[in-house]
Amino acid sequence: MAVTWRRDGMVGFVELDSPPVNAIGQAMRQGLLDAVDRAEAEGVSRVILSGAGRGFAAGADAKEFDFPPEPPHLPDVLNRIESSAVPWIAAIHGPALGGGAEIALACRYRIARADAQIGFPEVILGVVPGAGGTQRLPRLVGMEQALDLIPSGKALSGQAARGIGLVDMVADDPQAAALALGDDVLAAAVPVGARDVTRAEAAAFDAARRTAGRKMRGQGAPLRAIDLLALAQDVPLAQGMTVERETFLSLRQGAEARALRHIFFTERGARQPKSIAASGRAVTRAAVVGGGTMGSGIAYALLNAGIAVTLLETDAAAVARAQANVDGLIATSLKRGLIDEAGAEARRARFAATTDYGAAQGVDLAIEAVFEDMGVKHAVFARLQAACGPDTVLATNTSYLDVNQIAAGLDDPSRLVGLHFFAPAHIMKLLEIVRGDASSDEALATGFGLAKTLRKIPVLAGVCDGFIGNRILARYREAADTLLIDGATPAEVDAAMTGFGYAMGPYEAQDLSGLDIAHANRRRQDATRDPNRRYVAIGDRLVAEGRLGKKTGAGWYRYDDGRKAVDPAVEALVRDESARAGVTRRAFSAEEIAHRLVLAMINEAAGILWDGIAQTASDIDLVTVHGYGFPRWRGGLMCHADQVGVAQVLDGVRALEREDPLVWRPGDLLVECAARGIALRDWTRG
Ligand code: NAI
Repeated sequence: MAVTWRRDGMVGFVELDSPPVNAIGQAMRQGLLDAVDRAEAEGVSRVILSGAGRGFAAGADAKEFDFPPEPPHLPDVLNRIESSAVPWIAAIHGPALGGGAEIALACRYRIARADAQIGFPEVILGVVPGAGGTQRLPRLVGMEQALDLIPSGKALSGQAARGIGLVDMVADDPQAAALALGDDVLAAAVPVGARDVTRAEAAAFDAARRTAGRKMRGQGAPLRAIDLLALAQDVPLAQGMTVERETFLSLRQGAEARALRHIFFTERGARQPKSIAASGRAVTRAAVVGGGTMGSGIAYALLNAGIAVTLLETDAAAVARAQANVDGLIATSLKRGLIDEAGAEARRARFAATTDYGAAQGVDLAIEAVFEDMGVKHAVFARLQAACGPDTVLATNTSYLDVNQIAAGLDDPSRLVGLHFFAPAHIMKLLEIVRGDASSDEALATGFGLAKTLRKIPVLAGVCDGFIGNRILARYREAADTLLIDGATPAEVDAAMTGFGYAMGPYEAQDLSGLDIAHANRRRQDATRDPNRRYVAIGDRLVAEGRLGKKTGAGWYRYDDGRKAVDPAVEALVRDESARAGVTRRAFSAEEIAHRLVLAMINEAAGILWDGIAQTASDIDLVTVHGYGFPRWRGGLMCHADQVGVAQVLDGVRALEREDPLVWRPGDLLVECAARGIALRDWTRG
């Protein structure tokens, strides 16, 4: 039973009951319709509608979006509720989102707990509200507020919703308040659909379109939502709802909505693979070694999750720096209102920085985040193994170094895994959990358990140069550098990739993270690089000139007053390198640039999956979206490849292979999937 009915005197109590989140599927729609009939037949004087369990209703059941819609349709159900002779009162606790919020709009009166969450997140799934949201909301709260809420997908607390009139009353016990509501109040309440829209000027719509274009670049759904809001000003409710419904149905089949559904369900499904049978060690005390960029961020992420942290550094000065880094992160959170003073104090109390490895005795987990140098890492793990005790799980945050080689320095290499965090480690959601040849299931499971505690998205990765993410990144950068030497400029490459949907292009991103990191990595790879492979030394020359990126005021761009500006000196250097390489430069369109860079990444990722470094194509989607800024609305790198079509991707790679057979050799996975006519996401080994 997705909807239950209970009668008490003259009041009908209708409860949405479809665990875990009261998603609105066919059974619930039918149940609601039946409840309207029943309330009328039994002649109750009001219906109080609430949700069972954790909330009111978290929205339409997105799993039904891949199938033809089954009647009764939500708009019809809600029109029945709104026009019923019996007034309905929404009593809201927890989430009332999307279709859940639309149900509330169809009720005659809305009462919410202060901590309820009410909003229209449809655009986050690439669709628009499909059951009157865009037509009723502006009638209830005015167009300006509706333009703020629906195209952004953001949710409001019950308290904030009361502030704009989205709910009529805030109460600790919404059901009791609904019961106590005066008949006169209810009688005076006008159905939302019968109200006039408070109009907004054309400028407000233009501003909303600009905001959507900036914050949700490349996405169509927010703009369509704005069109529907504009329509609400000009046509009657029924007509607006018809257009809204058509828009919703056409969008939900489109590429954007399918990609966003894919990544949404992939994110929710990210967890320890069944093949790792062990349960991990619960982490309540941890050690972090190294208190620089990564170590301090990791320590803070652990503190946020209630874990006690001992941070180990080399000397008193480094201890003081690490302490200042962590204090700074706590202070920033406090200033931003993310934690209160008591929370800040609790975090400070859970944290200690020291040079004394004895303090790491008995910790559940020790995470190393020291310099990217094998000798330094070996020395650190030797000390950890002596200090911690035999049961401590050991982890390295290395970006590129061989986890097997790091583990080989231990008496028991099975206790070591890679835990590859992303900067800033307390914010970025992705955690690559790297399985070394010897890593025990228990150590891996500890990593997955930690990801859950930290609310991060875990992805299992195998050992190779760069694991999943940095291996793709290295190929992306190499392909971009090749474009430079063949005729593009850094600004053209960056513009092409922001046009594709990245928040920033590869050169601006390098300027932010520092050119020295990639440079050091290229030096490390010198020994193993194929001498026949084209090598572009532009980045090396910038580093030689001390241009390490934004931190030195110049990198691929100049930052004279902190603002990015194209530097003619870099363009001259690029042309000079082309001349040295004997290349006749030619123009590349933005489409061609994006085409090549995306194909380079897909082909590399195909190798990563084929080699077993990644378990599934969807894992690569998670890594590219959550660690590297691949546009989420494209569903991740491999989802994008599937939407383009494997055969077409393969054709594209083969065309480029004629230019450079070494670099563009098509991945075996692409060849196999194209031959078998299957999508990358459907490929499994063997
Ligand atoms: P960093 O240079 O900011 O910090 C390294 C810290 O380690 C310094 O505070 C240094 O004093 C300390 N340290 C060095 N030797 C030590 C020792 N023997 N014992 C204790 N502490 C020692 O470096 P960052 O960026 O934090 O990188 C650390 C590790 O994380 C590297 O392996 C790096 O590849 C990896 N990583 C870096 C990312 C980034 O975006 N910066 C992202 C993911 C991983």
